[in-house]
Amino acid sequence: MSEQNYNPQFDENELKMVEYHKSKYPAQMAAVMPVLWMIQEKYGWISTDAMKYVGELLNLPADHVLGVATFYTMYFKKPVGKYHLQICTNVSCMLCGGYDVFNHVSKKLGIKNKEVTSDGFFSIEEAECLGSCATAPMLQINNKDFYEKLSLDEVDKLLDKLRNSN
Ligand code: FES
Repeated sequence: MSEQNYNPQFDENELKMVEYHKSKYPAQMAAVMPVLWMIQEKYGWISTDAMKYVGELLNLPADHVLGVATFYTMYFKKPVGKYHLQICTNVSCMLCGGYDVFNHVSKKLGIKNKEVTSDGFFSIEEAECLGSCATAPMLQINNKDFYEKLSLDEVDKLLDKLRNSN
């Protein structure tokens, strides 16, 4: 998916799913999170036009949708790499070397926060607490896989493993 602002459109089945999400809550504004997730699952990231589209579907101001999308790091506001590494630098991780992990990955991949490698393989993002403080420092890949109690050696092995996975 390019950096361009794509024009989102749900098909008939997806629109039924939107109605289902709306029906689950007393106020339909609560459906904003699952509907944003549907957008991300379909397009890989959430563009400005996609936020407007979600607002239209749920009768919400675009600013409200923007507020939700920007509050949570699980929503990608820019295109991400095949492997999106979110590295926690919140208190527990910071005290246990979270910034060392972040800076090491950043240097090794040659990208800064929220950038994507030129081959589209990796992107990195500094994240707030991801709920794994007892096993700090940690990183998360693609919103689901946790790697915990990381040393820099383990980070190197992880990056090599991902790079060789294709
Ligand atoms: S501070 Fe890093 S997971 Fe909580």
